Amino acid sequence: MICVSADLVDGGDGVRFVVQRGGRDVAAFAVRFRGKVYAYFNRCAHVAVELDWQPGRFFDSDGLYLICATHGALYRPESGACVEGPCRGGRLEMLPVVERDGGVFLAD
Ligand code: FES
Repeated sequence: MICVSADLVDGGDGVRFVVQRGGRDVAAFAVRFRGKVYAYFNRCAHVAVELDWQPGRFFDSDGLYLICATHGALYRPESGACVEGPCRGGRLEMLPVVERDGGVFLAD
């Protein structure tokens, strides 16, 4: 389980977690937007750095876009598409998640 459903408030702080890829731990995060949970690798499409300037702070001040703390790229929470910033046209890599029984899980 990534977290309990109540940990993710719409447009609020996200939850950081780690997934295994190629035998390595890779940083990822989950957020809630318009009721639905989305998860991405925590790696900007511009430079391979983590997005959050403070752990869990992925949304911009309006709670409408995910924002990279380094150069301010803005991403659509529901698709990971970069709509503004140096990596415009790029996207975050999404991880499939499901929400059930009060929890958020990586989908198989
Ligand atoms: S590293 Fe994210 S916008 Fe440059």
